[in-house]
Amino acid sequence: LEPIEALLDRLCAVVPDYPEPGISFKDLTPVFADAEGLRRIVDALAAPFEGRFDAVAGMEARGFLLASAVAYATGTGLLTVRKGGKLPREVFCRDYELEYGTASLEIHQDALHPGARVLLIDDVLATGGTMEAAASLVEQAGGAVAGVAVVLELEALAGREKLAGREVVSLQRV
Ligand code: PRP
Ligand code: MG
Repeated sequence: LEPIEALLDRLCAVVPDYPEPGISFKDLTPVFADAEGLRRIVDALAAPFEGRFDAVAGMEARGFLLASAVAYATGTGLLTVRKGGKLPREVFCRDYELEYGTASLEIHQDALHPGARVLLIDDVLATGGTMEAAASLVEQAGGAVAGVAVVLELEALAGREKLAGREVVSLQRV
């Protein structure tokens, strides 16, 4: 079986100087578009946490693509962590830092069963701001963070440090 890192190297599209000069952007959309690629990354995100989570949380927008598949594949439910102002009922809200300014993520206050063990899924871990906000929201809503799983970890941005004390799995570190 092709190792997951080789599969990602083969299918990722690398875009030089995007979104700005000097940045080499790893575009995962061809991985998602490939039947084997999608199945392999979904299975690999879930496997380290097998039997240790009751629900999967995905972060809008790209996290939704993967979290939904992981939830379906593992027979668990999907929790929706949306960008600010999108959810219709009472929410918990967390601000997080962007390169320029701040953004916010929200979760419905009653999204979780109390004590639910939640696996957090996203495509990329960069500064960790998105993931730490989502983890805080899950805890504020009464859940326990079972772990964090991402496809790509951009090590230079040290997101793992922001998530100190949490179990973080990445399929590829770049
Ligand atoms: C991207 C990516 C992660 C986040 C990682 O999302 O999908 O969610 O950035 O960055 P961080 O670790 O520094 O927080 P983005 O907010 O760009 O948009 P999208 O998922 O809605 O496309
Ligand atoms: Mg995102």
